[in-house]
Amino acid sequence: MIVDPLGRRFKNLRVSLTAACNYACTYCVPDGKKLQALSAELSEEELIYAVRLLVEAGGIDKLRITGGEPLISPKFDSLLNSLNKLALEDLAITTNGQFLKKKLPVIQLAGINRINVSLDTLDHMAFRSIARSGDLATVLEGIEEALALGLKVKVNCVPIRTANLDQLLPMLEYCLNKNIELRYIELMNMGHLKHNQSYEQDFVGMDEILEKIGTKYEYYKIDAPLDSTSVRFEIPDFGRFGIIANESEPFCRTCTRLRLSSNGQIFGCLSNSKAFSIRQLLDKPYPTAITELQTVLRSAMQLKQRLAFTGETTVMKFIGG
Ligand code: 5AD
Repeated sequence: MIVDPLGRRFKNLRVSLTAACNYACTYCVPDGKKLQALSAELSEEELIYAVRLLVEAGGIDKLRITGGEPLISPKFDSLLNSLNKLALEDLAITTNGQFLKKKLPVIQLAGINRINVSLDTLDHMAFRSIARSGDLATVLEGIEEALALGLKVKVNCVPIRTANLDQLLPMLEYCLNKNIELRYIELMNMGHLKHNQSYEQDFVGMDEILEKIGTKYEYYKIDAPLDSTSVRFEIPDFGRFGIIANESEPFCRTCTRLRLSSNGQIFGCLSNSKAFSIRQLLDKPYPTAITELQTVLRSAMQLKQRLAFTGETTVMKFIGG
C-alpha cells in the first residue's frame, strides 16, 4: 500500500468520465461556452482497464463518477455496468441533474444507491444566470424521481455572494423537507477564479453560512468520518447538513482522494496542476501495468499539500471536483 509520511493513503478514486458539460457555470467556465469533450478522451475499454488497475494498485475502495457532466457521456451506461463487477465498497455519481430522470433506470440497474446533485439555487432566474443553461424544474423532477426510487440523494450548493446568497436558507429547507443532506461547498480558488478578484468578493465562508442558519435553527456539530471532506451538523428534529469548508477547515491532512481525468491523467491533489499520464501504460499486460502504475501513484501521492488548499489554475470542469 502507498502511504505518505502523514499516513495518508489513496482510498477514494474520482473518475472524470468526460470534460464535456451541458452547463457553463460562471464559477467554472470563464467565457460562458459549454464545454467540449477532450479530443484525447480514453476509449471505453481504456477507461475500464484504467479503473481496474487503479483500484488494484491504489488500494481504492470508493469510487465516484464525475465530469464535466458524466450523464452526457456515451460511455456512461457501459462504464456503470463494468464498475459494478469490481465489488467496490461504494460507487457514487456526481451530476448536475439535468438528465437524471432519463438515466435513473441505468443507474438503478447498476446497483448505485447514492447520488450527488449539484444545485446552487431554487430560483429559476438565478439558476439560468449561474448555469447559463439547463432548467431548474427538470433538475428538481430528477431529484424527486430519484428519491421516489429510494436513492440516497445529497445536494451540493456553492454559495456565491453575488449570485445566490439569498438561497442559504431556502436550499437548506428544501433539503431538510425531503430528507436530503445538503452540503454547502465553500468556493474554491480554482481555474479562472485563481487570478480574479471576484473570488474574494464572492467567497462565502463557513462562519457566515452558520450564522445565517443560526438565525432560524439550532444546530450542533456532529462527528464525521476521519477522511470526510465535510464538517457535519445536526438540526434536532429536522435533519442534517454539511459544509465542505476548503478554506475555513482544510482537510488536506486526511485527504484520501485520487483523480483520473477523461484523457488518462492522474492527479494526486486538486491544488496541484501537475499530472501523470497513464495512457501508454494501458497497452501493457496486467502485472506490468500494475507495477508501473504503483510508481506513478507514489509520485502522485507526493503532490498532496500538507496543510491547506492554496488554489490552483487547474480547472474543475476537467477533474470534477
Ligand atoms: N468551488 C467550489 N465548488 C466548485 N464546484 C465546481 N467548481 C467549484 C469551485 N470553484 C462544485 C460543483 C459540483 C462539485 C463537483 O464541485 O458545483 O457540485
